[in-house]
Amino acid sequence: MSVIIKTKEQIEIIREGGKILAKVLTETAKKVSPGVSTYELDKFAHDLIKKGGDTSAFLNYKPEGARTAYPASLCVSVNSEVVHGIPSKNRILKEGDIVSLDLGLKHKGLFTDHAVTVPVGKISKRDQKLLDYTKEALGVGIWAAHGGNTIGDIGHAIESFVNRKYGIVRELAGHGVGVEVHEDPYVPNYGRAKTGQKLIPGMIIAIEPMFNIGGEHIITAADGWTIKTADGSRSAHFEHTILITEGDAEILTVV
Ligand code: MF3
Ligand code: CO
Repeated sequence: MSVIIKTKEQIEIIREGGKILAKVLTETAKKVSPGVSTYELDKFAHDLIKKGGDTSAFLNYKPEGARTAYPASLCVSVNSEVVHGIPSKNRILKEGDIVSLDLGLKHKGLFTDHAVTVPVGKISKRDQKLLDYTKEALGVGIWAAHGGNTIGDIGHAIESFVNRKYGIVRELAGHGVGVEVHEDPYVPNYGRAKTGQKLIPGMIIAIEPMFNIGGEHIITAADGWTIKTADGSRSAHFEHTILITEGDAEILTVV
């Protein structure tokens, strides 16, 4: 594993990119309402990125092992879809759905990654709680990402927080980000305290807990991309790109 420590200049660019990405994702999330197709959300985000002179990090992205390149800018994952849902004109959001919006930005050659899960109209108390707890778990993970702590401390904090109330998706994880969309280190949402890679100031990582109301197992849909819960239960996902410092981490994907 080769962990990349970013230079001051890289950090400045990624900080700039993170702000733009957060703005685009926030504006896109405002478009979520019953009757809107997932394609429209992708188009909106894509156009906004283009207007700003940047490019989408996910469009045509082909990670190692993937059969096909990802065909859109935004990942839109509805209800029991965990991540990597492909936008479609036929997928119309309806009242009571929950929808994860995951977006990556390439700004001046460097990458940032950010996701939120939002309600479509009025949602059930149970689903709202899932969103609240998953978002909170991201905060707990970021809080644990203090310089000098380890990757295991982050996962341990998230896992202890969820306390078996939700299924943690263990087959997917956060990651280093910046020079590539996905780089070392691998950042699981579970782990043992004081184990793994030490968090060194200048590292930039994406933390992204994914929690299911039911079990932790996931399956990949026939499209080769969409990841769903195996039991059909609903799932939520939140993600921030953060900078490791000597003290508390700095959240980079904020407006
Ligand atoms: N944010 C996603 C992740 O870190 C990346 C999606 S890549 C795509 O897993 F190609 F699916 F868009
Ligand atoms: Co990510």
